[in-house]
Formats: sequence, structure tokens, C-alpha cells
Amino acid sequence: MSDPTPITEKAVSAAVDAALAAISTAGDSAALKAARTAHAGEASPLAKLNATLRDVPADQKAALGKLVGEARGRVTQALVAQEATILAAEETARLESETVDVTAVPSRWRAGARHPLSLLMEQMSDLFISMGWEIGEGPELEHEWYNFDALNFDEDHPARAMQDTFYVEPVERHLVMRTHTSPVQIRSLLTRELPVYVAAVGRVFRTDELDATHTPVFHQIEGLAIDEGLTMAHLRGTLEHMARSLFGEGAQIRLRPNYFPFTEPSAEMDVWQPNAKGGARWVEWGGCGMVNRNVLRSAGIDPEVYQGFAFGMGIERTLQFRNDMNDMRDMVEGDIRFSQQFGMVV
Ligand code: PHE
Repeated sequence: MSDPTPITEKAVSAAVDAALAAISTAGDSAALKAARTAHAGEASPLAKLNATLRDVPADQKAALGKLVGEARGRVTQALVAQEATILAAEETARLESETVDVTAVPSRWRAGARHPLSLLMEQMSDLFISMGWEIGEGPELEHEWYNFDALNFDEDHPARAMQDTFYVEPVERHLVMRTHTSPVQIRSLLTRELPVYVAAVGRVFRTDELDATHTPVFHQIEGLAIDEGLTMAHLRGTLEHMARSLFGEGAQIRLRPNYFPFTEPSAEMDVWQPNAKGGARWVEWGGCGMVNRNVLRSAGIDPEVYQGFAFGMGIERTLQFRNDMNDMRDMVEGDIRFSQQFGMVV
């Protein structure tokens, strides 16, 4: 073991100078901790000098002890003072970083927008209300009798087949997810006084795959008018009025013969869209016809006295060709950017 450095004023003041220099340049808690270990710790020069006090002659012990003790005191004081400075600086920096600018412009949550399908359904309902019609409703989980039988579907009509219809177990209960809004015709006739003028908007279900032009869940609007002396001219006029209010004054209606079990005669309706993006065109819009006498009988109505018409169209399809949309999937994905294009109606 080498001889310990003897305690001299020079050695002590060199140790103190080194300690004070290290302490005063320590800029943060970590640096100060290192300086403390190096200059006030057990292995520091001053501690080592202190340890040699044991061996100094008795007559020098008091003087040298005082020299080393005062030196260690100065270093300790410097450590305490620097620690206070550093803590204060760190506290200030933390407060500054957490400062809230109460005058800053707030970043707002964007208000949501109504889905364009909801808006279109509302617009359609409003149109019929403005003509004095009532709004009808029915359940989405429907009895097969309302969805098919009362609407004059044959027992083996293809639309009943499992491929088109969601049957709900147990099958013996004859419950289906309604495949169209037409069961609301029967419900309206059974619960309302004649004459009946009812429009119904709602969700319907078919076992289609989701693609650009199909979705297994979609919406329809149904219309039913039963009164004395209604003819196809009334049907046509109603559809024309509807087309003009949705597609503009130049819109027209075209009927082509078709078949539905619940209407006779039945027609497919096309609409002439004068302002379509790619140029004026006919678009297939829905089905319609004069209510079949068997349907009136199902609801206990005498077809000799009352007649009427019915129509139904898909809302998604209407939105798709009215607004020139390529892909129906955009309507069901719930991306806010889709709704935003239709304005921010809340
Ligand atoms: N329910 C028919 C369908 O979904 C549409 C329709 C309604 C046809 C009313 C005629 C009368 O295709």
C-alpha cells in the first residue's frame, strides 16, 4: 500500500478546489450525484485525508483536524447550495413544460353528420306526410304470414327459398327477417280505418353477399293507398310527384309490365333522370301495381268496394343513382368522410 498523502494545506485546498469546481459545474441532479460521490464520498481525496488523521502526531491533531473538518464543511455546503439551485431549475422547467395556454384557440370535436341514407328516408317520409299520408311501421323480425302468405305468395314461391330469406330458428315458428317492407301493407290494412294512405320506410334483409350493388341489409320505402275508385293513373301521378321532388322537375316515370304476387297488374318502374351526371337516362327504380284482390281479402276488405295501389323501392339504390355513387359498400362502412360530402346536417 502506498503511503497516504500527508495532510497539508496545499493538499487540502487542492481537494477543496477540485470539489467546488465539480459541484459548481454540475448542471443536473445526476451530475451532482456524481460530484458528491467523487468529492465527498468514502473514496474522495478529502475522506482519505480525513482517514490519515488517525496517524498524525497528537500535537498536530487538533490543527489538522480543524483544517480537514472545515474543508469538508465547505464542500458539504457547496453541495447543499447547488442541490437547491438544481432542484429549483428542474421544477421551473417542469412547470414550463406543463404550462396550459388558456388563451389558445380550442381544438374542437367535429360535430357528426346525419347519414345520407337517414336524410333521404326522412325526405321521403316528409314528402308523403306533405301529401296527407300516414307513416306506417312493422317489425323487422316478421311472421311469414305477413311477409309472404297474406301477400299472396304461393307456398313454393322462389322468394321464400332459403337462399333469399333469413329464416329464424326454430323454423316451426315461421319467423323471418322481413325481405321487403310490403308486410307493412297488411299490418296497416288490419289496424287502420279505410281509406288507407300509408308510407313505410324501414330495414329489410336478404341473403345477398355485400358487393358494389348489393347489401344483405338495406332499406325500402313502401307506399300503399286503398280507397274507392283508385286507378293506375293515381299510382302514376303519385310516383311522378315523388320522382320530381327527388330528382328534379324534369324527372319522369316509365312503367314496364312485371309480376308481383301482391299486385295485379304489376309493373317495374323506371325513372328518367334529366340531370344525371353522365347524361339523361332511364334507371330502374322499384316495383309497383294495383293491390291484388287476394291481398285485400287477406285483410278482410271487400275488393268490390275498395281498390288501390302499392309501390316499393330501395333507398340505397335510390341514393346510389341519385348521387352517382359507384360502390354501395361506402354507405355501410360508417366512414365520416362519406357523410361529410352530403353536408353537415345534424
Ligand atoms: N316488395 C317488392 C320488392 O321488394 C316491391 C313492391 C312493393 C312491388 C309494392 C309492388 C308493390 O321487390
